[in-house]
Amino acid sequence: DKGGYKHFMAKEIFEQPSVLSNALGHYLGEDDTVVLPGDNVDFSKVDRLTMVACGTAYYACFTAKYWFEKLARLPVEVDIASEFRYREPPIVKGTTALFVSQSGETADTLAALRYCKDKADRIVSVVNVPESSIARESDLALPIHAGVEVGVASTKAFTCQLNVLLMLALKAAQDRGTMTPDAIRDAIGQLRALPGILNAAMDRDRTLAAAALKLSESRDVLFLGRGLMYPLALEGALKLKEISYIHAEAYASGELKHGPIALIDKTVPVVVMAPKDSLFDKTVSNMQEVMARGGKVLLITDAAGAEIAGPDVWQTVIMPKVPEIISPLLYALPAQLLAYHTAAAKGTDVDQPRNLAKSVTVE
Ligand code: M6R
Repeated sequence: DKGGYKHFMAKEIFEQPSVLSNALGHYLGEDDTVVLPGDNVDFSKVDRLTMVACGTAYYACFTAKYWFEKLARLPVEVDIASEFRYREPPIVKGTTALFVSQSGETADTLAALRYCKDKADRIVSVVNVPESSIARESDLALPIHAGVEVGVASTKAFTCQLNVLLMLALKAAQDRGTMTPDAIRDAIGQLRALPGILNAAMDRDRTLAAAALKLSESRDVLFLGRGLMYPLALEGALKLKEISYIHAEAYASGELKHGPIALIDKTVPVVVMAPKDSLFDKTVSNMQEVMARGGKVLLITDAAGAEIAGPDVWQTVIMPKVPEIISPLLYALPAQLLAYHTAAAKGTDVDQPRNLAKSVTVE
């Protein structure tokens, strides 16, 4: 049942506020502390986290690396499962291995998990399907509570993965004493407020649809982001290529000068994901480098960012202002909607894009 929407993907994008609000409840204890369902993980005894996944789930891990390192001062390695499993990396004592998978059946992720079994202190997974192979073979499986996701392009599973991973990072900060209880409560308060903010942001749908109409005429699109927005840029590019078949690539903004700037001309739109955060000024200067070469910038930012960026930007989408740590959960929305409307404008099969399967059970 598409719930009145044209595609499952649209339904799944628009149900994120309510799905996230329910999902968060499963990880909250009394007095806004983080409580994991099932066995506890004591992060004060964890020296290192190795996170492994594929596709969108990998980008969720990549986002979480920034959170774990910044909030909990925990060293994190992230890897793509197909590379990790054959590289046979040494797993040092004190490592917790964490696998993220919507389906819980992805062949490479499962093989990476099996490789870690006798080597890591503990195997933890973050899954949407609790009875899946990856969940069953883990010491602890944490459900994301996204509900069934039908669209091949992952949307609500991504934000629900982010939700659980941020709760885990806060739990790590709680256990390791790197954040005060008040700061943790504050962060949880911000997460509680997020569904309301996401709901309010849904009206950007029309601006994004208009922007998508122009994007749909391009052959190539670049995405740029810095810090927490870098993994989001990668996810935005993946969404766009999966369903619109437009070639899209993402770079860390700071890498622009090291090669990709050679691609810039007026036919290659550049989507810049940049809330007015601690790194904004740096991203603006990258953006100006793009515009100076005739590049067309589609800036996704907040009101303060739009004001600084000025009127020369090709198109600006203004998102609500949110605290930096929860920005990935909000900025996933414009990334998804942009891809969705671009694909819809091209008339592709949004829910069943060519050559793709929802669950990749062969390598
Ligand atoms: O079920 P999984 O989360 O393990 O799947 C991983 C990837 O195959 C998946 O995220 C894929 O990249 C999606 N089509 C992304 O939209």
